[in-house]
Amino acid sequence: MSRVAYVNGRYVPHRHAQVHVEDRGFQFADAVYEVIAIRNGAFIDEERHLARLARSRRELKLAAPMSDAALKLVLRETARRNGIRDGIVYLQVTRGAAPRDFAFPKAAKPSLVVTSRRMRIADPRLIANGIAVITLPDIRWKRPDIKSVALLPNALAKQQAKEAGAFEAWQVDADGNVTEGTSSNAWIVTAKDEVVTRKADDSILNGVTRLGLLDIIAREGMRFVERPFSVAEAKAAREAMLTSATNGVLPVVKIDGKPVGQGKPGKLALKLAAAYRDFMDGAA
Ligand SMILES: Cc1ncc(COP(=O)(O)O)c(C=O)c1O
Repeated sequence: MSRVAYVNGRYVPHRHAQVHVEDRGFQFADAVYEVIAIRNGAFIDEERHLARLARSRRELKLAAPMSDAALKLVLRETARRNGIRDGIVYLQVTRGAAPRDFAFPKAAKPSLVVTSRRMRIADPRLIANGIAVITLPDIRWKRPDIKSVALLPNALAKQQAKEAGAFEAWQVDADGNVTEGTSSNAWIVTAKDEVVTRKADDSILNGVTRLGLLDIIAREGMRFVERPFSVAEAKAAREAMLTSATNGVLPVVKIDGKPVGQGKPGKLALKLAAAYRDFMDGAA
């Protein structure tokens, strides 16, 4: 099946999908996006993704390209035309094409691009083996709570992780505390079996998977606190993990080359990874 993309009102062959050279998404990263996991044909936590998209847009005074009801139809049609029942749908809204000028154009129409592709969501092998992270200074702008496509620092950090043989980079603020991964939220489990993740203020993206996992943690009555944690605390933690729409919950077994706990996936991380997979399967 050949790939199809949705671009501003049309479904086009992926290899011919194009935006204008003066699209502000291309020139200024003046755009927001979402990545929604599809599992057994179900769009996981779609309402939360659309609510976050609306918030990101509002923060940037970016108009909606269409209603949420219409957007949901486009997301489904893009997935259907690509034959995707397990994978992701990616959507990007930009401020549109206009003569190059930093100030907002008066009359630009927002652009909408949607793509979909197969992907192994919450890969069981990664869950079983756990993954390694490295830590790096967080050099991003001060509004990573907005899911903008200005992802150059994230790309640089992810590349460094890859070159170090790690799966993800945990970014670290000026106080030595972990903010989040390049495309995931960061968690630890303390010696008292308390699950810890940073509060969703303007220093991190409030992950939809993060919110879903918080629901599970509350339902299970597990000990939990939202607070910053340092790199040193993470390295000394009993367990660590990360969350994202594509990975679900993944145990972190190494930080900067040093084993976390026993150096293998922790029991709470595995329990939460299984509970999150059950949640996704229940959505189908
Ligand atoms: C910087 C950052 N933090 C966290 C996340 C996790 O968010 P979600 O669980 O909604 O995928 C992402 C996802 O891409 C991200 O880019």
